[in-house]
Amino acid sequence: MCGIVAYIGHKEAYPIIIKGLKRLEYRGYDSAGIAISNNGALSVYKKQGKVSNLEALIAQESVQGTAGIGHTRWATHGEPNDINAHPHYSSDGKIALIHNGIIENYDAIKKELINKGYSFRSETDTEVLVHLVDDISKVEGVWYGEALRIALNHVVGAYAIVAISPDFPDRLVAARKSSPLVVGIGENGEYFCASDASPIVEYTKNVVYMEDEEIAVIDRKEGLKLYNIGDQPKTPYIQKLELELEALEKGGYEHFMLKEIHEQPRSIHDCFRGRLNAEKGWISLGGIRDYEQKMIQANRLIIVACGTSWHAGLVGEYLLEDLARINVEVEYASEFRYRNPIIHENDVVIAISQSGETADTLAALELAKSKGATILGICNVVGSSISRITDAGYYTHAGPEIGVASTKAFTAQVTILTLMALQLAHKKGTISQSRFHELLSELEAIPEKVKQILAKNDHVESISKAYKDASNALYLGRGSSFPVALEGALKLKEISYIHAEGYPAAEMKHGPIALIDENMPVFVIATQGNSYEKVVSNIQEVKARKGKIIAIVTEGDTHVKAMADHVIEIPAADEVLVPLLATVPLQLLSYFIAVMRGCNVDQPRNLAKSVTVE
Ligand code: AGP
Ligand code: GLU
Repeated sequence: MCGIVAYIGHKEAYPIIIKGLKRLEYRGYDSAGIAISNNGALSVYKKQGKVSNLEALIAQESVQGTAGIGHTRWATHGEPNDINAHPHYSSDGKIALIHNGIIENYDAIKKELINKGYSFRSETDTEVLVHLVDDISKVEGVWYGEALRIALNHVVGAYAIVAISPDFPDRLVAARKSSPLVVGIGENGEYFCASDASPIVEYTKNVVYMEDEEIAVIDRKEGLKLYNIGDQPKTPYIQKLELELEALEKGGYEHFMLKEIHEQPRSIHDCFRGRLNAEKGWISLGGIRDYEQKMIQANRLIIVACGTSWHAGLVGEYLLEDLARINVEVEYASEFRYRNPIIHENDVVIAISQSGETADTLAALELAKSKGATILGICNVVGSSISRITDAGYYTHAGPEIGVASTKAFTAQVTILTLMALQLAHKKGTISQSRFHELLSELEAIPEKVKQILAKNDHVESISKAYKDASNALYLGRGSSFPVALEGALKLKEISYIHAEGYPAAEMKHGPIALIDENMPVFVIATQGNSYEKVVSNIQEVKARKGKIIAIVTEGDTHVKAMADHVIEIPAADEVLVPLLATVPLQLLSYFIAVMRGCNVDQPRNLAKSVTVE
């Protein structure tokens, strides 16, 4: 969900907008575009790739105008290419619009508009919106700003929008719901809009952070007026920007990794947005609906991945086997591709990859494809290589993940795998209707529970102080918390450079217990569930050898609390959903320990965000 910049005032808009888009490049994107209004006409330029590609395209033109909108796209619907880049505009070119977010009900609206004779240039959900605004404007005889307000009462989804029309040369219209949007108030009728304040701060410190379901009508003569989408006027709350540019890019957080850890309530919600409705009791996995039967009848599901994505695959194995009773194998892609594996035509191979570009995962998929298996993907980057070669798949919609250590992408992958396991279990009847509905409701409540855990940020930071000088660490978990233990260990080692290992808690007695002494911190996931008592025994074994215990426990647990050196409580949840919660404290612990050790948290030594070579 990437970048928006807009300007209206007395200066040339293009230089301000293009500079603003560059300010937003850090957020990750795949294409960019600009629309400038001048003398009753709209000039629109769009280009796949970097903002510099857009600049090169425009360099050959003389772009003039004191009002304009600009966008960096992080594709969710439709490949990254020139046509799908924003701005999108109405058939008569009189309205242009840029959008961050997802229009969930775009398909239904698109069908209605096509029946009315509208034609579409792009594959995006966003283009539906601009034609809807145009249609309402013509049918209701209202200006495009009012038409946008009416349209947003019919739209389901997340949006930060700015629209422009040369028929109203003194105005811009902005709206937001779930995706951030800031209005900057300059001097002499100068106004800015942006996804965050970084493109604005050099021009003005006076900003209005728009709230959900708010519409801003920005008129260089009449000023800024705010309304809710019910058309009730609202008083703008003008704040003075305190943060400097670099801090703004990280949303006020010290590092992208911490920002992305704290984005998880939204990214998990965006991941199941439009795919889950607990109230009505349905899951809709459009991406692979046509392959659900294949997965149910498959000889086995083979999950191939690397690193954190491989850990997500392991969680998926527990859930798919436990709930849907489907045989699952999880393979390191790098091993799978070279060990001459047995692959049957009725196998379904699922690649999990945040970047969608990991060389080993791509190669493992190509091997599976060559053997005639069905290949599916779970990726975070639309149009990535893996998403392009698979027969079908899901996008995790976690938004760009800048920190090299994967955090929100992991919980998004686990969310997708949980939805998949529930959907297949429901289709097969391997779980009861009541359990299905119960788990849907519990899954819908996860973002709120993650928020509660994130509120313990400072408590976790204080615990981290006690372990920042450790040389080694052990992570223990049972069941679907075992992959969480592996993930916690990977987070610590890759950003703090402390050697850490994850183990099934019971496995400790088969070797690792020899490592336990007063210098060994042992992080244990000891939440309420089937194996709770057994994990408690493992904790006692560690304590008997003077090991330090940091336990992730279910809120209200006093039993483990009495034994452990530190506890971090997480809200109670069905065991199936614990991985989504137990991971978060471990992410925070590794983050704070790494910061205290003075490590480069966002770009750890020797690591790349995407391993596109073997
Ligand atoms: C995770 O924190 C690491 N950055 C790394 O293990 C990563 O998960 C792995 O390289 C796989 O990347 P992918 O998900 O983009 O395929
Ligand atoms: N859903 C829109 C698209 O895919 C907007 C994506 C974004 O937030 O950049 O074009």
